[in-house]
Amino acid sequence: MRPLTRITNKHLLPIYDRPMVTYAIEAFVNSGITEIMLVTGGTHAGEFLRLLGNGEDWGVDRLMYSYQDRPGGIAEALGLAEKFVESDKLAVILADNIFGQSIAPMVSNFSNQSIGARIALARVDESDHLSNLGVAKFDVDKIIEIIEKPIDPPSNYAVTGLYFYDSDVFEIVGRLTPSERGELEITDVNNFYVSKGLMSYDILDGYWGDAGESIDSYYEVNDYVRENGANK
Ligand code: G1P
Repeated sequence: MRPLTRITNKHLLPIYDRPMVTYAIEAFVNSGITEIMLVTGGTHAGEFLRLLGNGEDWGVDRLMYSYQDRPGGIAEALGLAEKFVESDKLAVILADNIFGQSIAPMVSNFSNQSIGARIALARVDESDHLSNLGVAKFDVDKIIEIIEKPIDPPSNYAVTGLYFYDSDVFEIVGRLTPSERGELEITDVNNFYVSKGLMSYDILDGYWGDAGESIDSYYEVNDYVRENGANK
């Protein structure tokens, strides 16, 4: 997304008529999640405060911020939320993921789950698109592994940036080692739950787009949201 991301944070770029990050906040608030920690990094972090303030205008009851001081991966960013979450269950959303439909049914499914993790899968037909994502490998209808950026995708089900975890997740994050790209990978966290037989999933009915994947996907998501809205 350079050079756009030299002058702002990717998640502050507009999707139709408002900054990208507000769709993720809306997805959470509309599904009843109103205590949120926003983790960001880089040189434009202060702009999130200017936009969201204490969260009141966006329906957030408690909005906390944390700062990731290097691009250490999604799992490292999640680790920064440990003191905020304490022993609760939690949801994670990547703020460049845009969902056509409300995520409330998934939040409700996870509320009824006593332990483990849950992910949201989206059907993606193009193999070259799947190669930029995490992809689920199945044995019949059970996930047996998630493969990150597979050359040869094992299914048509992409792992979206919406994850649910029990509080054991912080111990799991603490034990991770960096991947080849030098990051703590959320897929390693998910595969830990998969290996313990503690990973559940939902398959999304409606639209899902990753606006941060490329400039083309950014415009595709913009076109979709302009026509149809999001989080419905
Ligand atoms: C991340 C995850 C990947 C997931 C994607 C969804 O990829 O690692 O498994 O499919 O988000 O947006 P990244 O954005 O780090 O390339």
